[in-house]
Amino acid sequence: MANVAIDGPAGAGKSTVARLLAHKLGYVYIDTGAMYRALTLKAIENNIDMTDDQAMTNLANNTVIELQPGDPQEVYLDNRRVTDKIRRPDVSQHVSLVAQHQGVREKLVALQQEIALLNKVVMDGRDIGTKVLPNAKYKFFLDADIAERAERRYRELSAGGYPVTREAIKDMLLSRDSQDTSRQFSPLLKAEDAILIDTTSLSAEEVADKMYAIVKGG
Ligand code: DC
Repeated sequence: MANVAIDGPAGAGKSTVARLLAHKLGYVYIDTGAMYRALTLKAIENNIDMTDDQAMTNLANNTVIELQPGDPQEVYLDNRRVTDKIRRPDVSQHVSLVAQHQGVREKLVALQQEIALLNKVVMDGRDIGTKVLPNAKYKFFLDADIAERAERRYRELSAGGYPVTREAIKDMLLSRDSQDTSRQFSPLLKAEDAILIDTTSLSAEEVADKMYAIVKGG
């Protein structure tokens, strides 16, 4: 399978790099975090208890999430466009909680695998190399210092008009990392055969070029 799997913690640069790499390769970019975010948005809007395993599994099984490839990738929740709404800070704050339920993961992983069967993809997330596409030909794990990751998110959110502080973002990233890494089902983990890239002092273009050279070379 010529697909490319990219995993790593929040703010490591995955989505920007994945988008650039997909463009260079002519592949479809799939942001799997957007699916967990869309479901989180629905749970918030419907006052569903996000700690309730059964309620969240039912919600996942009764929700249609669609990704429309492009720049930006458009996200549809039950036929409604939610591309911008899913970036709201309250969604970011709760998404790791939603992503820990086994029933939620089963539903979304199946959807991701289906997309990857029909397209050549660059897919980013937390469990792509380990669980979603364990046979992907190319696997990367991106990481960066927490201060740099917080700074990147700070710039993104301030540009989007959200009133945030660097400290609050740093705390939220650390809390999400710890929930994503310690959860029982498909935790954030580097696949044994994934190539680790520290993006702290690299630009997104530099990281994408590095990955492109690896994919083209092998
Ligand atoms: O990539 P992101 O920050 O938009 O992801 C949001 C959350 O979704 C992240 O904190 C954990 C979860 N997630 C996951 O569990 N598995 C994935 N493949 C992608 C995201």
